[in-house]
Amino acid sequence: MCSATPVVTLVFLLIGLANSKWNGLRVRYCTHPEKAFFHQPRLVVEAKEQGFKPVRGLQCNASVHYRGIAYAKDGDRSLTLLYDIHGFIGGIQAGIPINEAEATLYPSQSLRPPFVLDDQHYIITMYFTNPDEICKKGRKASDFEQHGTGENLWLQTGQYPHTVAYLPRQERNIAAPWVQGKCYPKMGTHYWYNISTDMSCENFYPVFLMYNNDEMTGFGWSFVTANLTSANYEHPDRAVFPLFFHEVPECLTRETKFSAMHVYLTNNPYAHTC
Ligand SMILES: *[C@@H]1O[C@H](CO)[C@@H](O)[C@H](O)[C@H]1NC(C)=O
Ligand SMILES: *[C@@H]1O[C@H](CO)[C@@H](O)[C@H](O)[C@H]1NC(C)=O
Ligand SMILES: *[C@@H]1O[C@H](CO)[C@@H](O)[C@H](O)[C@H]1NC(C)=O
Repeated sequence: MCSATPVVTLVFLLIGLANSKWNGLRVRYCTHPEKAFFHQPRLVVEAKEQGFKPVRGLQCNASVHYRGIAYAKDGDRSLTLLYDIHGFIGGIQAGIPINEAEATLYPSQSLRPPFVLDDQHYIITMYFTNPDEICKKGRKASDFEQHGTGENLWLQTGQYPHTVAYLPRQERNIAAPWVQGKCYPKMGTHYWYNISTDMSCENFYPVFLMYNNDEMTGFGWSFVTANLTSANYEHPDRAVFPLFFHEVPECLTRETKFSAMHVYLTNNPYAHTC
C-alpha cells in the first residue's frame, strides 16, 4: 500500500536548480522511493527496448480518438505513452478497461469527455506538444534537445483531438475555475479544477496540476470514486487530503475510493521542496 502519509525522509537535493526545460518523464508518487518516480521512455526506441508494445498499430490513425502512436506495457493502458511520427514523446494517456469502468461506475457521465471511449477503454489524454503536429510534422531531434519532454500541456477535452484545453506553463497565468491547493514536497503547488466544498464527487475533475517556482513541473490524474486495479495507480487515504487542499471538498471526506497518478515532467522530484 502506498499512501501519501508524510514521513521524514532524507533526500539528496541535487544541485542545479530550477531548470525550466522539461528534462524528464516520471510517474507515480509513493513514500517508498523504490515504488515511485518511475522513469518513462521519451523515445519510441527506448519504449520498445523496455517492453512497450504498440496498442493500435504502428502509424497514426486519423479515426482514433487521440493523436500519436500509442504504446503500453503488458496491455495495461493505465500508462499509455504517445509518440509522434518521428518517435519523440508527444503525450500520455490513462485508459480504464470498459469492464472495469462498468464495475466501478467510473468515469461518471459528467466526466465523458474528457474521458472518451476508444478501443474498449475509457481514455483520457494529455499532450506535451501541440497535438495538431504530432501526426503531421512531429518533432526534430533539435526540438527535442531544446524543449525536452514538451513545451506545454494540452488536455484533450473533447471526443477528438482538435478539442483541447491549453494549460498554462506559468502558475501566474492560471485562472479560475482552477483553484489553488497546497504545496507538498516532491510534488509542488497543486491546482484543482472547479472544486468547491459542497461539490459532488461524481464531478471531481480527473486532472490536477503541479507548479514549482511559478513553473509547471507536472500534473496528475485524480480519479475519485474508483479504486482501479492497475499497480500504476496510487491510492491515497482521505486522511491526507488536508495536505493538498486549502478547503477539502466535503464529499472527499466521505469517499474511500481513489486512484491517482502523479506525472513528472522534470527529472528531479526531490528538488520540489515547497
Ligand atoms: C484505424 O482505426 C479504425 C477505428 O478503430 C480501424 O477500424 C482501422 O482499422 C484503423 N486503421 C489502421 C490502418 O490501423
Ligand atoms: C463548476 O462546478 C459547478 C458545480 O459545482 C458547475 O455548476 C459549473 O458548471 C462548473 N463550471 C465549470 C466551468 O466546469
Ligand atoms: C483498492 O484496491 C486495492 C488493490 O487493488 C486494495 O488493496 C485496497 O484495499 C482497495 N481499497 C479500497 C478502499 O477498496
